[in-house]
Amino acid sequence: MKVKTPLLITLLFLGVQLFGVSGALLDVARAAPAMPVTVASTRAALTPRAGGQMREFRLTASAITYEFVKGQPTTAWAYNNQVPGPELRVREGDLVRVIFTNNLPEPTTIHWHGVNVPTSMDGVPDISQPPVRPGGTFTYEFIATPAGTRWYHAHFAEHKQLQLGLYAPLIIEPREVNTRYDRDYTITFGEWSADALHPDHNQPNGGMGNMMSDDMMGDDMMSTPDDPNVIFTVNGKASPLATRLLVRQGERVRLRFINASAIQKHVIRLEGHTMKITHVDGNPLLPPREVDAIEIGTGERYDVEVTANNPGVWALHCARPGHAERGLKTLVRYEGAADDSRESADTRNTRRFRVWPDTILSQRQAAGETTRPDKQFQLTLSGGMMMGGMMGGDDENTWTINGKAYPNTDPLVVKQGDRVRVQLFNMSMEDHPMHLHGHSFAVLQYDGRPITPMVRDTVTLRHMESYDIEFVADNPGTWFFHCHNAEHMEGGLITLVKYQ
Ligand code: C2O
Ligand code: CU
Repeated sequence: MKVKTPLLITLLFLGVQLFGVSGALLDVARAAPAMPVTVASTRAALTPRAGGQMREFRLTASAITYEFVKGQPTTAWAYNNQVPGPELRVREGDLVRVIFTNNLPEPTTIHWHGVNVPTSMDGVPDISQPPVRPGGTFTYEFIATPAGTRWYHAHFAEHKQLQLGLYAPLIIEPREVNTRYDRDYTITFGEWSADALHPDHNQPNGGMGNMMSDDMMGDDMMSTPDDPNVIFTVNGKASPLATRLLVRQGERVRLRFINASAIQKHVIRLEGHTMKITHVDGNPLLPPREVDAIEIGTGERYDVEVTANNPGVWALHCARPGHAERGLKTLVRYEGAADDSRESADTRNTRRFRVWPDTILSQRQAAGETTRPDKQFQLTLSGGMMMGGMMGGDDENTWTINGKAYPNTDPLVVKQGDRVRVQLFNMSMEDHPMHLHGHSFAVLQYDGRPITPMVRDTVTLRHMESYDIEFVADNPGTWFFHCHNAEHMEGGLITLVKYQ
């Protein structure tokens, strides 16, 4: 290795390999210094990595008539006329070329969330590329890395364009597949709002009433106000339209959850079953954790393994009040089970439910090896009601990093090869799923205590939580680092990571 890779991250990556899932992450760390594909001007020279192939796709965004909710045909904005857009499946190391045409009445771009693409392919308007105008085309090209559950979505007017349907899964298979599943289902959660098409599109804030009635899990009074007019979807359809998932007794089933919602997090449960989390944001979780419910912030992904050992017809749904009723529910049906109308009842004791991430965060964990980062930043996230209160105004939708809203936030200036530590602290009342473009990071500490590291690209900070994350600056360019809640983004919760 030419540059010294931070020990902790190296160990993490080694762990990944020992566990036998894939050498993907290791490759990322190792290839960093020499990787020529990260420079925009070398675009024409992109070639698949050894063993990889050239994969070409065509995507067109256009307005379609679509039924998110039974009996309510409406306008959706869709990739290739479907919501979610087509799932792209490639293998790690493939050269992916996507010829994109925008047939929408307004500009758009595509962001490849969780993929370490060159900065010019990252889809951030005016930073990576000019927005693709109506009638325009753009060719995205990148090497598929790292392996895992990724996704792609519009990165222009996200609030509106995500709620209208511009999102889809992107699965990067590892070079070597060591775990075989009998079924592999991708389950993408979305939002649809009838307001989305209106020019004066803005969400009423739910206010205190909603905040107080939040989670049945009782673990977060503070969250994000829920707009009762927003409908939730599972693979593009609100319950009961959502496609059921078929399993057979004895099967080993993989579910890949993607939260493509513009605003809301969900608490996902599969009645009658536990879920073993094997991957967070597509990256192996070591060791895997067995849970009963998963809190999933916008932008986040969880791969879980379920053993089909409890025949019946089971609800897969969000446990937050009102979310299943507003669409976030489908059914897992065992082959041979009675008809769907007879849902099986879960009789397990809900008091002992283990909810991710709480069960994990409350565990005492051995301190990892600590080494000294090259650069360190502290980011305090604030805004919303706090801001309104402090300013004595009604500026409820200003969201800040260290007191500043984008574009006035201070960029994180790094240089190639730096190991960068970022200490995040959320002093606002709402959740912030913080997403870093172009890099994966290791989550090292929670509330000042070391946790078993996990590699992610998005981490959700709830009220008064803090996380320390670390990444290697191995992908030169200018990158968004922002809250994935589209409303908070609009309100300024964005900063840049800039290479010197
Ligand atoms: Cu998935 Cu900048 O976002
Ligand atoms: Cu936020």
